[in-house]
Amino acid sequence: MPRPSPRRSLLPMLAAHSGGRSAMTCEYRCGNACFHKVPNTSSNAYFGDVAASAFSRRAALQAGTVLALAGGATSALGQGAAAAPPPHAPGGTAVGLRFEPIQQQTGDAFTVPPGYLHDVVIRWGDPIFSDAPEFDPENQSAEAQLRQFGYNNDHVGLFDLGRGEHLIVANHEYSSEPMMFPRYDPENPTQAQVETAWAAHGLTVVAVSGEWRGRRSRALDPVLDHPLNRRLHTSSEFELTGPAAGSELLRTSADAEGRTVLGTLNNCAGGLTPWGTWLTAEENFNQYFANADAVADPTARERLSRYGATGGESGRKWERFDARFDLALEPNEFNRFGWIVEVDPFDPTSTPKKRTALGRFKHEAANVQIAADGRAVAYMGDDERFDYLYKFVSDEAYVEGDVAHNATLLDNGTLYVARLTGDSPASQIDGSGTLPGDGEFDGSGEWIPLVSGNTSHVPGMTAQEVLIFTRQAGDAVGATKMDRPEDVEPSPRTGAVYVALTNNTSRTAAQAEEPNPRAVNKFGHVLELVEAGSDASAATFAWSIFLLCGDPEDPSTYFAGYDKSQVSPISCPDNLAFDDHGNLWISTDGQPGTLGTNDALYGVAVEGRQRGEVRQFLAVPAGGETCGPVITDDRVLVAVQHPGEVDGASYETPLSHWPDGGSSIPRPSVVATYRADGKKIGHA
Ligand code: FEO
Ligand code: CA
Ligand code: CA
Repeated sequence: MPRPSPRRSLLPMLAAHSGGRSAMTCEYRCGNACFHKVPNTSSNAYFGDVAASAFSRRAALQAGTVLALAGGATSALGQGAAAAPPPHAPGGTAVGLRFEPIQQQTGDAFTVPPGYLHDVVIRWGDPIFSDAPEFDPENQSAEAQLRQFGYNNDHVGLFDLGRGEHLIVANHEYSSEPMMFPRYDPENPTQAQVETAWAAHGLTVVAVSGEWRGRRSRALDPVLDHPLNRRLHTSSEFELTGPAAGSELLRTSADAEGRTVLGTLNNCAGGLTPWGTWLTAEENFNQYFANADAVADPTARERLSRYGATGGESGRKWERFDARFDLALEPNEFNRFGWIVEVDPFDPTSTPKKRTALGRFKHEAANVQIAADGRAVAYMGDDERFDYLYKFVSDEAYVEGDVAHNATLLDNGTLYVARLTGDSPASQIDGSGTLPGDGEFDGSGEWIPLVSGNTSHVPGMTAQEVLIFTRQAGDAVGATKMDRPEDVEPSPRTGAVYVALTNNTSRTAAQAEEPNPRAVNKFGHVLELVEAGSDASAATFAWSIFLLCGDPEDPSTYFAGYDKSQVSPISCPDNLAFDDHGNLWISTDGQPGTLGTNDALYGVAVEGRQRGEVRQFLAVPAGGETCGPVITDDRVLVAVQHPGEVDGASYETPLSHWPDGGSSIPRPSVVATYRADGKKIGHA
């Protein structure tokens, strides 16, 4: 198979949980992370009052643009930079964003701009093989689920297969048992329910085609039995690779070699590599493991605590059905999750790789761009309050078309953590979001090396310890505590890197600092980072805050200086993507509990006169979260995760009937949105 280039009824108001989600989402998605103590108890200083930056962010951004225009190798796809700045209508909106922004929504509907249509591509339970039974939630089984699309789709990636066919890769982050199973008793899950949940987690690779919908339609349908179709789940084999593979800390009674793991868990976002593979990120894996309290060894306890493992029984009680989820019995199984996983979707027989060189934390995603000398640079966030921003730089250069060589890039290299320094006096960062005297939250930063192959740069930790307990390595070197780093996305046009910082209501005014300047940061922000010399492998960078999210009428918001009366309200930025015109698209996770409206997808220009003009493109049904997203000229794909997951909802009492209507239960689904007239997304 040739390997193409990746392309890039009103419901009750939700309880205002601190992350902006419903109580059920908090419990089943991340194990109530926000209700536990902040796992980072390190004494890293808050860098509020450090001297002026080494170089100006604006100058660096300008230099980056010049380099990009000169054809510098800053493209994430290794295709060279675009030749022209993004065109704009005189005084108008950027190309790609020329749609009528929708209003904030609260209903049980998927809402798109006037002139646009949408269709469900694939739902939880839809067969991907013809031998799978039709979805029957009253009689769902692990056997059926293993041949069907999994639950709670999150990251979506798209490869163009030609002839109107595409390959979709999708994460199934977590199971919401009370929404999935009739008569679910959380105290006494049955073996059949647990095994079905194992099958509903994981990953799907599925081909889709538009050929049955007619030439004008941009709707897509699954291609049953396509040779690339594949499910990966909690019992599939994954190989640990890189410097920590085989470590004593990764060995278990089932795997004396420490190299073969069953399953991938809580896969949140991800990214496609320039060499045509898929990176998928293991995030809140801690919640699946029981009995941390029974672990006596103080070092082991400290490590578990830093990764959020606490208490006795787990929420889903999987430990009753498989002892590997019991920390008292199998302490190292925990260390085998929390990795970036690389999947080759073009070889359905391949064993996916857990790449230990990229470190272990609550990985949100990984997105790669190619440095000036050809090396691969992966940007990554650790989605926890007060945790860190990372990048990995490969030792070897990417070689276009050399599949075997490129498959080794993420096993050999250096892992860095970020320290950000503001350029304004600490006295001007008061936690209110008021801009400092120089008019911007900005400054400089450095990438602190943690480990290179088998060489540790952290005193007191071996290389394997740095890779397996990466959070503690970050603590030791004084990394900057961020407001939940989620997706980190480089612009294929300029090489500038955008960091979604979802929220952090635990930050106090005393802890406010220029990179995270708001106390009780409910609405989150987006940071822009420009590598020195516009080289992704640089040791230093300049940064500034691009957006301080929220209702634009809230004085603590900031939209890159754009006229606030002309932007859409936005809160809790999560997943990021670029369109072919250089515009940034932002999906949200937490608007219900912060703005009182449904999660949504926005487009925003990052260059030109419209820089900062945030425009709302779509909204997902109440209780749902907007994930994915993929933006092409033909269509916008999003994953609607946990629709109707609001307090009081259950299988018996669905509070959403999306997408099937009637009295149906809600089903997480991938949705395609496109122009009714067949023209390009966001063009006049
Ligand atoms: Fe799964 Fe960080 O959101
Ligand atoms: Ca400043
Ligand atoms: Ca996310």
